Amino acid sequence: MIYLDNAATSYPKAPGVAAAMVNALTQAGGNPGRSGHAMAVAAQGVVDATRRRLAALLGAPDPARIAFTCNATDAINQALFGLLRPSERVITSRMEHNALARPLAELAGRGVAVDSVAAAPDGSIDLDDLARALRVSPARLVAMAHASNVTGCILPAREVAQLAHRHGALLLLDAAQTAGVLPLDVAEMEIDLLALTGHKGLLGPPGTGALYVASGIKLTPSRFGGTGIQSEDEQMPEELPERLEAGTLNSVGLAGLGAALRFLSERGVAAVRAHEMALTGRLLAGLKDIPGLCIHGIADPVRQVATVSISLRGWEPIDLAAVLDSSFGIAVRAGLHCAPAAHRTLGTFPSGTVRLSAGCFTTEDEIEQTLRALDQLAQTPT
Ligand SMILES: Cc1ncc(COP(=O)(O)O)c(C=O)c1O
Repeated sequence: MIYLDNAATSYPKAPGVAAAMVNALTQAGGNPGRSGHAMAVAAQGVVDATRRRLAALLGAPDPARIAFTCNATDAINQALFGLLRPSERVITSRMEHNALARPLAELAGRGVAVDSVAAAPDGSIDLDDLARALRVSPARLVAMAHASNVTGCILPAREVAQLAHRHGALLLLDAAQTAGVLPLDVAEMEIDLLALTGHKGLLGPPGTGALYVASGIKLTPSRFGGTGIQSEDEQMPEELPERLEAGTLNSVGLAGLGAALRFLSERGVAAVRAHEMALTGRLLAGLKDIPGLCIHGIADPVRQVATVSISLRGWEPIDLAAVLDSSFGIAVRAGLHCAPAAHRTLGTFPSGTVRLSAGCFTTEDEIEQTLRALDQLAQTPT
């Protein structure tokens, strides 16, 4: 199989992830932060180590400001519902994943003003449009994806953060498609809130994610319950990360994520980025030579991650993905990719696109094979 569905979830996972998870179950099977016996302490040690490694990867000065969540969706929900109040305003874009768009729609129903800036037909967001939206009336938050899961287009996050700050707004960055794939430094990039998921570019297991909360920002918890500290208090503790971590953590998943983070720190995210950029460059160049094939997006390996959306004349995306799988063993995703607004922007609604997403372990030869398969299918429309 040639796996080009890393934007959905990465495969394979980093070396050491499965072993770390087995080890957590068999050797560190206590409840982290709850008891004082050796296995509970071992479980806490695993969680703490993963938090420290994630803080190092993100350039977060204080690991305690990273709360573990189930995934990026969970982290985004915590950030939005924990921050925004009725009558406050949030600015988003018309390229967002439902993980951001749906909680915002729910908040709009509860009295939060939600405005979306349009994107260009290639999916890129014009910062002048964002600046105009920020000038119209005060906003509490700008909430956008760091990279589109449809086109791969990268948002200039630091510029967006600085623009937001100039107008008194915070930035929530949805880094579901960039954590582990692009070098990140939340301090240098001036990011206020960053949501990520463990199972994509971080090469960890599903069921893991995190929310980074910059110093000085206080969120209302979106879940309430046991934290293992200050049990005598009726209210959730003030301290992070416990304030945002009600209930038992996924210590097994976090052990796997910790192993993945170790792998990434050894390989270096910059090296992963260089590899994926080279693959994307070759893929885009080859795709441009295939007759009847349209690339939806900016088609620029420097300004996008390794996610490329295409359509092929004479093929419905769903059929093209099915034949790539059944006849060539190439795993891709077809459809709207949970981002309907993005397809309205790109003009690919409602059929969507076929999305090819290379990853850390994709090889050049796999890209060449994929190009040959698409070239062959371009000669034989259904
Ligand atoms: C841009 C973006 N945001 C958020 C998510 C949600 O990630 P998860 O399903 O891990 O919560 C995804 C997943 O595809 C995504 O691509």
